[in-house]
Amino acid sequence: MHKLKPKIFILLVLVCGISGFLFHLKVFEQTVMTQNQRRDDVRVTCRQNNLTVYSHRIKPSIAKQLYVVHSHKFIYCEVPKVGCSNWKRIILLLNSSLKLTADELAPRVVHTSPYLKKLSSYRPAEQVELLNNYTTVMFTRHPLERLVSAYRDKFLHDDTTFYSRSFSNLIKKVVRRNVNSPGRISFEEFVRFIVSENPNYRDSHWKPMLELCDPCNIHYDIVGKFETIKEDAAYVLRSIRAPKDLVYPDIKHYSNETRTNDLITMQYFRSLPRTLYEKLIHIYRFDFSMFEYSPLLKL
Ligand SMILES: *[C@@H]1O[C@H](CO)[C@@H](O)[C@H](O)[C@H]1NC(C)=O
Ligand SMILES: *[C@@H]1O[C@H](CO)[C@@H](O)[C@H](O)[C@H]1NC(C)=O
Ligand SMILES: *[C@@H]1O[C@H](CO)[C@@H](O)[C@H](O)[C@H]1NC(C)=O
Ligand SMILES: *[C@@H]1O[C@H](CO)[C@@H](O)[C@H](O)[C@H]1NC(C)=O
Repeated sequence: MHKLKPKIFILLVLVCGISGFLFHLKVFEQTVMTQNQRRDDVRVTCRQNNLTVYSHRIKPSIAKQLYVVHSHKFIYCEVPKVGCSNWKRIILLLNSSLKLTADELAPRVVHTSPYLKKLSSYRPAEQVELLNNYTTVMFTRHPLERLVSAYRDKFLHDDTTFYSRSFSNLIKKVVRRNVNSPGRISFEEFVRFIVSENPNYRDSHWKPMLELCDPCNIHYDIVGKFETIKEDAAYVLRSIRAPKDLVYPDIKHYSNETRTNDLITMQYFRSLPRTLYEKLIHIYRFDFSMFEYSPLLKL
């Protein structure tokens, strides 16, 4: 009886060990399949709409969105309103020699940190080489939710920045025809502005993700989603061999506010005129199809 116990114990450990290993293998397999599927979805939309252009150069506007981390052979494409501040924090935390404190990871500091290196700072030939050699990553979010997030962030706060004041004035000028007209920009006015503006000068906070990261010409190794940010971020961190204790930070700029979700998004779109809604869907049509988001709100 006594002699059996250690054997049972060893057997148990083995069974648990193997099933744990198989479980991780299964999760990993699923993630790889998900990633293959996402890359295929992007490819199909690009092909069907002739969005791939054959060029040996990266467009300067795209190179400015890409951040290079040599130590981990990692290139990240910045999409505002899709957790980009937290990705910048990750990039800074990956540089162990900086030994950063929480203060240095404050929102305003993060975006202007001199330790974030853009792909645009390299010569064109080097840019292509780095993109070929490194793990390239972009994150997407439901286009309408991203829009509501941009609106709430830029136009609903009292601590206005120069940026939000100038946009507020521009929108008033375009939509109300009077810069001095009082009152906040409404969501409908914001949308009216977006559908009327010149697509070439669209602000990066609401520029389509396709135009920010150019996934038809840059073949991203990993396409993560904001909707599953925890799992997808963990997968990215494992892929680039980040230290095991580094986790995606999930810090919000306005810490006391609810993060924009599908319910909040729906509230904003419920009262939007149908024609305006359709024009908006048209602007983001490729984002919807290539990243597999449904334009129809579940009303
Ligand atoms: C894409 O290009 C092909 C060949 O040049 C053309 O036949 C097709 O109509 C184009 N498709 C679109 C959506 O522009
Ligand atoms: C990390 O930070 C140091 C400054 O402490 C800087 O010299 C170095 O270039 C940084 N490394 C990377 C990979 O950015
Ligand atoms: C990219 O990879 C090639 C082949 O492995 C290597 O020769 C080259 O030095 C690498 N370039 C960079 C910038 O890492
Ligand atoms: C969040 O906090 C700020 C300043 O601390 C305050 O002005 C604002 O009203 C708060 N918002 C909510 C939704 O509680």
